[in-house]
Amino acid sequence: MTVEPLLSVTGIETYYGPIQAIRGVSLEVAAGQIVTVLGANGAGKTTVLRTISGVLNPASGQVRFQGRDIAGLSPDRVMRLGICHVPEGREIFPLLTVRENLMMGAFARRDSEIGRDLHMCHGYFPVLAERASQRAGLLSGGEQQMLAISRALMGRPRLLLLDEPSLGLSPLLISQIFDIIRRINREQGVAILLVEQNANIALNTADYGHILEVGRIVMRGTCAELLEKEDIKEFYLGQKTESVRGTHRWRRKKLWR
Ligand SMILES: Nc1ncnc2c1ncn2[C@@H]1O[C@H](COP(=O)(O)OP(=O)(O)OP(=O)(O)O)[C@@H](O)[C@H]1O
Ligand SMILES: [Mg+2]
Repeated sequence: MTVEPLLSVTGIETYYGPIQAIRGVSLEVAAGQIVTVLGANGAGKTTVLRTISGVLNPASGQVRFQGRDIAGLSPDRVMRLGICHVPEGREIFPLLTVRENLMMGAFARRDSEIGRDLHMCHGYFPVLAERASQRAGLLSGGEQQMLAISRALMGRPRLLLLDEPSLGLSPLLISQIFDIIRRINREQGVAILLVEQNANIALNTADYGHILEVGRIVMRGTCAELLEKEDIKEFYLGQKTESVRGTHRWRRKKLWR
């Protein structure tokens, strides 16, 4: 008997009006796993996450979560089923306090463990406790990212969708936030689908990765395998492995090998 993955996306195609952004993407996330989707600007990373969380409806293809078809459900239904989305650009509520932002993440809950989860978020990101009553718009970019991740955790997800958490942050802050993302995955058992342009941090965080180019997945594998691929090293990690005289980098084509 094979166990169905937590999330399974099959052949999705998503449009913005007449513009096709996603051209048949399939991927899976198992319970407790971290999976990454890497791609350049405009590759379609955000669109993949929006299609999973119900912000966009796919024109075709399937999105299955815990064995049920969720394509076409509204974002709040998807959230109640256990998928919380940390959007591109964080989208915190700048005029609400830090604490009110966190409570917005728990708006759909009626259980008695909201206080416990608030405490858990403060444990991961102590600055959110220190600044609980300040307006969230006053936080730095890194602190806003911590708030956005914590707000999603307050929804008690089984799957967290993270859209470029490294964007605009210093290397030190990126490494601190990703250490905590790994801890959240391990300690809370939350599966994570991470989209990133920062291939180095993503491949060193996730278990499995996909390369998305112009709406299509062109390569996939374990992150250990992907870190060894020539095209990944050259085009995504900025490492040049050979210096053959006369080889012009701008002439070299991606062969996906
Ligand atoms: N609201 C929109 N209306 C029309 N086209 C859009 C819209 N949002 C995105 N697109 C187009 O869809 C394609 C995929 O965009 P998407 O935002 O998913 O890429 P991305 O990989 O997240 O890029 P980035 O790294 O810049 O965030 C791009 O060609 C983009 O121009
Ligand atoms: Mg994006």
